[in-house]
Amino acid sequence: MPAVVVLGAQWGDEGKGKATDQLGSRVDYVVKFNGGNNAGHMVVVGDEKYALHLLPSGILSPGCVPVIGNGVVVDLEVLFQEIEGLEARGVDTSRLLVSSSAHVIPSYNRTLDKVTERFLGKRQIGTTGRGIGPTYADKMNRVGIRISDLFDEGVLRDKVEGALTQKNQILTKIYNRRGADVDAVVAELRSYADRVAPMVADTGLVLNRALDEGKTVVFEAGQATMLDVDHGTYPFVTSSSATAGGAVTGSGIGPTRIDRVVGVIKAYTTRVGEGPFPTELHDDVGERLRKTGGEYGVTTGRPRRCGWYDAVVARYAGRVNGLTDLVLTKLDVLTGFEKVPVCVAYDVDGVRHDEMPIDQTAFGKATPIYEELDGWWEDISQVRSWDELPVNARRYVEALEEMSGTRISSVGVGPDREATIVRHDLLG
Ligand code: GDP
Ligand code: IMO
Ligand code: MG
Repeated sequence: MPAVVVLGAQWGDEGKGKATDQLGSRVDYVVKFNGGNNAGHMVVVGDEKYALHLLPSGILSPGCVPVIGNGVVVDLEVLFQEIEGLEARGVDTSRLLVSSSAHVIPSYNRTLDKVTERFLGKRQIGTTGRGIGPTYADKMNRVGIRISDLFDEGVLRDKVEGALTQKNQILTKIYNRRGADVDAVVAELRSYADRVAPMVADTGLVLNRALDEGKTVVFEAGQATMLDVDHGTYPFVTSSSATAGGAVTGSGIGPTRIDRVVGVIKAYTTRVGEGPFPTELHDDVGERLRKTGGEYGVTTGRPRRCGWYDAVVARYAGRVNGLTDLVLTKLDVLTGFEKVPVCVAYDVDGVRHDEMPIDQTAFGKATPIYEELDGWWEDISQVRSWDELPVNARRYVEALEEMSGTRISSVGVGPDREATIVRHDLLG
């Protein structure tokens, strides 16, 4: 019974939610270990569509215990809105556990996220504006507020006062905003204390015990490798560890417990927000991928930037995460192209790079070196077995597997839970 990490191998929105949900009833715990409601995962079950942000995708599988780990930043208002939204649709959320060490996103950090972006002007990151960056900065700066602080008004007030001593200076003197009021912040955070209390647990202990008992635990990343604060396209990244290491620090288990690391990857590439993206298409082909793939953000509704598959990124994700498997998604979106280009290396100032350049200036200048693969015309959205796929679609998958250096264990051909071709069992 394995411990499996499911993470994004590109710039996010690869279909992690669907991949996690699909493991479904065989999973005992699904743990979100990084990020917060900057994530948006669309899970489609028959006629029902669920947009999840803060809650792990396991919430949709009866019997599975969803866990918000210590590495997550929690917007309490969003947490309860999401819970209420799901309960109204008949989803049982009563098993949810929340780490007492997870940090909360106070309202002043949402304000700071937005005003900082405005202040950055053309250097802006294109954040989701959810207060993610300022809350992780507070955590590292040791002025963060944790879930465990909510339960003692004296402790909470002390921490909020400490944080606002710094933050109100920044808000008022740099950004010309009104400072946050200690009483109002304390009152708002305290208003959630009684509701969140029954969910709070020592989730690290719970998860270690579950693994001791041979339970199946899936660690589901938000964001992705290229958005990871250490390994991504810094500074155009999110503020958390979205790579495999984050599953360990963000949940309180040791690295030796992990059996499998699954990278979810699209058959092409998308990115939201600013930052370098070598295979981006600025033409009508990019528009076609956006339209056919429905590439609009689940969280902000922003159109996603689209481009061809990048095998350099895939190999990099393989190395940084120690991937054992790739889950390839959205192959159906590529139906109907005469030729499908795939980036195999970069050209940087006339020099060929087969691996990720070591600095961002070089990556920013990278132009893709493409290999063109033959396309297919058949509608593959109803295909459920490898042998039924058109030969060129199979060749495309095999070529990506070869170039990316990690086996492709399943292939997505549609948004629905069922629209998947399984080649290797991720839990077997
Ligand atoms: P996540 O953030 O990684 O969970 O991904 P998102 O949910 O933000 O974006 C992936 C989108 O692609 C969602 O709308 C999914 O329903 C959809 N999707 C996932 N897998 C497939 C697939 O194989 N084919 C198609 N056409 N859509 C898919
Ligand atoms: P999922 O989990 C795609 C991007 C934002 C921005 C940068 C920093 O659905 O794959 P942040 O608000 O995190 O400080 O923004 O990261 N970003 C995402 N892009 N999918 C996501 O999540 C993202 N979460 C953050 O667009 O460029
Ligand atoms: Mg998403």
